[in-house]
Amino acid sequence: MSALAVLHASQLLTLAGPKRPRVGTGISDLGIVRDGGMLIREGRIDLVGSSEEVAKNAGDAKIVDAGGRVVLPGFIDAHTHLVFAGNRLDDFERRSRGETYEQISKAGGGIWSTVEKTRAANGEELFIQAQTHAKWFLRCGTTTIEAKSGYGLTVEDELKILRVMQRLNEQTPLEVVPTFLGAHAVPRDTNADEYIKLVMDEMLPRIASQKLAEFCDVFCERSYFDIQHSRRVLTAASKLGLGLRIHADQLSDSGGAQLAAELKAATADHLEKTNEQGIAAMKSAGVQPILLPASVYALGCTDYPRARDMIEAGLAVVIATDFNPGSSPTPSMPMILSLACTQMKMSPAEAITAATINAAYSLKRGDKIGSLERGKLANFAIFECKDYRELAYWFGMPQMHSVYVKGRRTH
Ligand code: NIG
Ligand code: FE
Repeated sequence: MSALAVLHASQLLTLAGPKRPRVGTGISDLGIVRDGGMLIREGRIDLVGSSEEVAKNAGDAKIVDAGGRVVLPGFIDAHTHLVFAGNRLDDFERRSRGETYEQISKAGGGIWSTVEKTRAANGEELFIQAQTHAKWFLRCGTTTIEAKSGYGLTVEDELKILRVMQRLNEQTPLEVVPTFLGAHAVPRDTNADEYIKLVMDEMLPRIASQKLAEFCDVFCERSYFDIQHSRRVLTAASKLGLGLRIHADQLSDSGGAQLAAELKAATADHLEKTNEQGIAAMKSAGVQPILLPASVYALGCTDYPRARDMIEAGLAVVIATDFNPGSSPTPSMPMILSLACTQMKMSPAEAITAATINAAYSLKRGDKIGSLERGKLANFAIFECKDYRELAYWFGMPQMHSVYVKGRRTH
């Protein structure tokens, strides 16, 4: 593959900085190079600097003229539920009439209805639908996503979903980091006690031995899995070498953030209802909060997580889509930037850090992706604007110009 020289970015957002997740005022530092450029060899970044300096070193590299647009690292979406069958249009319409997520779930919609459809689909059908969704992510400027299983809830169906993710990694340019979320809902024909035994004794050992997941997650919530169940599943996963993530305090303050801290989880996600103690516990254990404002928006709620309090407490905040058919049908990180700024009072710069380098660290990939620095993968996006703040400012309109994964244009 020939070398590539990207020239004339009005602003090249390098996100260069210390080799750790960014906290405090560090979250606002985007490492901007004006009229910036990059030299890329073998899919990796070799040089970052002014266009003049890069042009001088470009030799016979193929030139990509960014034409005064904004260039930034590909977004890293650290919380998605990528693989499922069908959609939840009926739930959506019921919510538009005023029913709540929990009411609809009790009345036969919700996660369970997606589980039934996903069980009925074969691996090929799931792959085709997920491949379409993978293209949506790339088109929005996202180059890596974390993806959770959790719409199978039997040994074979969970394995089927995780194998679809493996195939997406092999056959599409989008990088997919797999998470096992067997404890996403309690199947109708059993109870939480029985079901987590299946998760711990059969699902987890097979998934770990086949290396089908890097992380394990649990939906810690009333009517789903309580703190004791969640602790047992995550402890078993940790013993098998999986990293930990947890759906915590989304619909009620159940102490999920404290559990994440106790277990030294990589992340605690959602956190709409987390209290001061939860924030303090995450700080002392180094847990990264992943905030998912699109699920609050799409459920028609108003209680967004307290991003400002978390930043002020020194947490390395991440923002993500929570892409799923029920509570957050969007693959768009630009939409998340908009919600972060308007609803959670993050600055545009903080939102971009939370969507790139901090997200990379939450997936244990801070050394490979998330910033445009020498040695990192050349995963980047070019946006049709001159000032990075426009990414969060204009909303409901695609501004993506092109996306590159390992130096290769994919969109
Ligand atoms: O993150 N909270 C649990 N899981 C998803 C919703 C999944 C669904 O409704 O299908 C979430 O919001
Ligand atoms: Fe989720």
